[in-house]
Amino acid sequence: MKVIWGNEIVDRNKVTIDFEDRGYQFGDGVYEVISFYNRTYFCMEEHIDRFFSSAKKIEMRMPLSKSELKELITDLLNESEATDGYIYIQMTRGNASPRDHSYPSQDVVPLLTGSIAAAERDTDKLKKGIKTTLEEDIRWLRCDIKMISLLGNIMLKHEAHKKNADEAILHRGNIVTECSSSNVAMVKDGAIYTHPDGNLILPGITKIVWKACAEQLNIPVYERPFTTEELLEADEVFCSSTTKEVMPVNQIDDKVFELPESGSLIRLLQSCYEKKVVEQCGDLTN
Ligand SMILES: Cc1ncc(COP(=O)(O)O)c(C=O)c1O
Repeated sequence: MKVIWGNEIVDRNKVTIDFEDRGYQFGDGVYEVISFYNRTYFCMEEHIDRFFSSAKKIEMRMPLSKSELKELITDLLNESEATDGYIYIQMTRGNASPRDHSYPSQDVVPLLTGSIAAAERDTDKLKKGIKTTLEEDIRWLRCDIKMISLLGNIMLKHEAHKKNADEAILHRGNIVTECSSSNVAMVKDGAIYTHPDGNLILPGITKIVWKACAEQLNIPVYERPFTTEELLEADEVFCSSTTKEVMPVNQIDDKVFELPESGSLIRLLQSCYEKKVVEQCGDLTN
C-alpha cells in the first residue's frame, strides 16, 4: 500500500515517524478527509482551502502549495485501486525535541501524511437513517479548527456508542451545536435550521453542498442557534459530513422520527447531493 509521507509517495512499510513528532506528543496538527467517487475527488478545492485555513489558525506554515498538495493527493489516488472511498491527510507541526509546549522555530518542517481507504456509500443507512443521542458538548471553544486532537469528539461518540447509537448530537446548555463527527440540521414547517459557523462548530464542506441544494430547491435555510427542545419537536433531522453525506436521523434518545418520505426535504437534499456528486465525479456505482 502506498501512502504520502513528507511530500512523497512511498510504501506504507517505509514510514517511520519519530516519537517526538508534535502530532504524537501534543496532538498538534490539522487534517482533512476528502471523499472520492469513480476515482475522482469530490469538493477537493473546498477541502484543501479548509486544510490551509485550519493550519493558518494555528500559525502552522505549510511546506507545500495548494497545487502541490492537489497533485500529490491525485497521484496517490492514481496509485490506488479503490473506486470509491476517502483520503485522509494530516499535517503535524513536525519533530521538535526536546519536548516543549511552545511552538518550535519556523525551520522545523511540518510533517504531511496521507492514506487512502476504499469505502462504499452506506446506502442502507442513507435510506433508513441513524440513531443518535443528545450529549453535552464538552469540547473546547475552537471547534472551527479541523485538528487532530479529537479526544472530546471521540469521548462523546463513545457515549453514543454505549447507548447503541451511531452518532452524538451535541449541545452547550440547551443550544444544539453539531455532532461528534458531523454537522446537524433540523427541518420545521418547510425550512431548515442549523447552527451558524463560528468557533463552536466545524464549517462543514457537506453543509456548503446541501445549502447550495436548498437554494436551488427554494428551501429556506436559517443559520441560527436552536434548542434541544426545538430539535425534538422538528419534522425531520439530519446529520451531514463527507462520509455520511446527507444522513437522516431516525432516533434521538427515546424520540423516534418517521422514515423520510419520498418527497420530504431530506430526500430532496439527498437526491440533489447525489446529482452534484455525479456532475463532478460521474455516475455513482451504488
Ligand atoms: C465535528 C465535525 N463537524 C462537522 C463535520 C462535517 O464536515 P464535512 O462536511 O466537511 O465532512 C465533521 C466531519 O468530520 C466533524 O468531524
